[in-house]
Amino acid sequence: MATPPIKAILCMQLLAIFIVAFCLIRINCSWVAEEGLLRKRSGVHQRQFDYFKLSLLWPATACRNTTRCCSSNACCRSNLPSEFTIHGLWADYNDETWPACCSGPQFDKKEISTLLKPLRKYWPSFSCEAVSNCHHGKGTFWAHEWEKHGTCSYPVVHDEYEYFLTTLNVYFKYNVTGVLFEAGYVPSNSEKYPLGGIITAIQNAFHATPELICSGDDVEELRICFYKDFQPRDCASGFIIRSDRLSSGSCPQYVSLPAYGSWRYSTVQRQFLDLSDSLTAVS
Ligand SMILES: *[C@@H]1O[C@H](CO)[C@@H](O)[C@H](O)[C@H]1NC(C)=O
Ligand SMILES: *[C@@H]1O[C@H](CO)[C@@H](O)[C@H](O)[C@H]1NC(C)=O
Ligand SMILES: *[C@@H]1O[C@H](CO)[C@@H](O)[C@H](O)[C@H]1NC(C)=O
Repeated sequence: MATPPIKAILCMQLLAIFIVAFCLIRINCSWVAEEGLLRKRSGVHQRQFDYFKLSLLWPATACRNTTRCCSSNACCRSNLPSEFTIHGLWADYNDETWPACCSGPQFDKKEISTLLKPLRKYWPSFSCEAVSNCHHGKGTFWAHEWEKHGTCSYPVVHDEYEYFLTTLNVYFKYNVTGVLFEAGYVPSNSEKYPLGGIITAIQNAFHATPELICSGDDVEELRICFYKDFQPRDCASGFIIRSDRLSSGSCPQYVSLPAYGSWRYSTVQRQFLDLSDSLTAVS
């Protein structure tokens, strides 16, 4: 008579343990969701970022290798941008790593319908290729930037519209092109400029050290960094002095800011490309 009840009690105890464990896990999960913590799609927690990096592209360098034209490729426009354009506003960690693909809604062009004009002008894509999004698919340059970086700028930036508007505002406020032009660093296919001079011009204007990325001798990107309240700060890597030699990213000591003349397409070819592009758009 004594044996079956003991088994039954054991079973009930086991069941109770399972129920408690299940509840604990469920509660933990809902807590995490309610706190709105940044989590990767895989469910891995990503800690909050440390600072912002505004990454800017030098169009003449970005367009140097253009081989294909389409409506999304600003390299093929007849009015090519002659100033740094936006690559993205990135949420970074001080240790030079960064969070990516945090939780947040997928890109929706409708959200930014009122910003399309400035975005097309100041945040163009320089490629026809779709770029990976955070959902195992491919999409536009803007979708990539919002999903990969924008979603990780929470809790400073709350949604897609705010991400693009904030980035445009910061870009307008800190006109890197204006600073360089005033210091005499103007587009040229013959001049080489000292990297240290470019860095000093930015430091004097914004009281913060930028980061430069080059493709060969040509400046490809210039990045300026901000605290979470958008006050300028040094980029975490910034420029490095290695045995008395200044370096920043992949840049040599003397760099170029190429003008469009070095670009492989002539104006005639570009007009043809514009024409074929509009024909494609019609078909
Ligand atoms: C609760 O969530 C944290 C953070 O995601 C996780 O590290 C921990 O293992 C979870 N605990 C349980 C019991 O699920
Ligand atoms: C252009 O192509 C050259 C040669 O393949 C490569 O070294 C360079 O990095 C490319 N430049 C850009 C801006 O992509
Ligand atoms: C930045 O400055 C340059 C040179 O003064 C000017 O041509 C350009 O319109 C300015 N860009 C923005 C976005 O205000």
